[in-house]
Amino acid sequence: MRKGLFALAAVGLLATGGMAACGKDKSNDTGSGGGTKSGGKQVGIILPDTKSSQRWGTDDPKYLKAAFDAAGVTYDMQNAQGDKQQFQTIADSMISEGVKVLITVNLDSGTGAAVLAKAKQAGIATIDYDRLTLGGGANYYVSFDNVKVGQLQGQGLVDCLKAKNYTKPVVAELNGSPTDNNATLFAQGYDGVLNPLYANGTLQKGPNRSVPDWDNATGGTYFEQMLTQNKNIKGVLAANDGLGGAVIEVLKKQHLNGQVPVTGQDATVTGLQAVLAGDQCMTVYKAIKKEADAASGLAIALAKNQKPTTATGTTTDPQTKATIPSVLLDPESITKANVKDVIADGFVTKDQICTAAFAKACTDAGIS
Ligand code: BGC
Repeated sequence: MRKGLFALAAVGLLATGGMAACGKDKSNDTGSGGGTKSGGKQVGIILPDTKSSQRWGTDDPKYLKAAFDAAGVTYDMQNAQGDKQQFQTIADSMISEGVKVLITVNLDSGTGAAVLAKAKQAGIATIDYDRLTLGGGANYYVSFDNVKVGQLQGQGLVDCLKAKNYTKPVVAELNGSPTDNNATLFAQGYDGVLNPLYANGTLQKGPNRSVPDWDNATGGTYFEQMLTQNKNIKGVLAANDGLGGAVIEVLKKQHLNGQVPVTGQDATVTGLQAVLAGDQCMTVYKAIKKEADAASGLAIALAKNQKPTTATGTTTDPQTKATIPSVLLDPESITKANVKDVIADGFVTKDQICTAAFAKACTDAGIS
């Protein structure tokens, strides 16, 4: 039922695009000395880092830029590079620059909420993009159904383990950042699938750790320790492709890649190639174009003093119990069999995925 609403929301958003003129991407133009409101950009966007996932440096900026340019709405898009202080400094400069709308992906709810409070005080509309800021009180929230993302990961891992015919395989879990509400929701989703199977003895619960800041290298180190202590690990629930890739590197050193199914998320180029190679069991494709279109659609309306009509879903902030008008999109599970869907959707190209080393795997997977 929710899905229907979101599909409608997406259609509504498409209709808001295509308004001619072009926006200006002055990524480093943060202004200084307070900035003049008349010269400032209409929308500020702060992305979190460029290391935890390919998306923040590549996909989200590309689609957000396209949407704002098409609408002729000016924006200042910057990346906090994993630095919470930097996140706040960028926000301060955007607020003094006089943006009308602020779109943020928080690095943690504490600093995220501080920024949202300042923006609110300055009369700026706020949108939580992808990650909900707990206790933040943003005006809107745009993301995916993140519990469902986790459910797809859990089910994907179970399916891959079944295909291997393992008896009571030990499963390790490598969760995302403990300060990212999404990581909590992903875990809620996959543990909802895995816990009953641990309980009835189908699977054995192995080591379980959360990776600060989703740092891929730390994830690899954690997994190396897990595998040293428990050589019997037969499956790994890794919360995104970056962490999954770090796990696969460790497995490769032990010649265990392909024997130990590993999950992921984000349908990154590396992740999709690992799926095709048989080293990664699955990834989750989240259509970032739709997410960027949804967020920019809201921001464009707000920048033009219109009341957005597209946030037809709702999210409850677990801390304040406040209800936040939301757009929550549907994620898709990707295995070898449907990597081609991600190409067909235009998120990645065949040329990016089917490089020489993966040419045969691509043909085998029906990518032509
Ligand atoms: C996003 C994922 C991403 C992760 C690490 C999460 O909040 O939803 O797409 O892989 O952060 O950046």
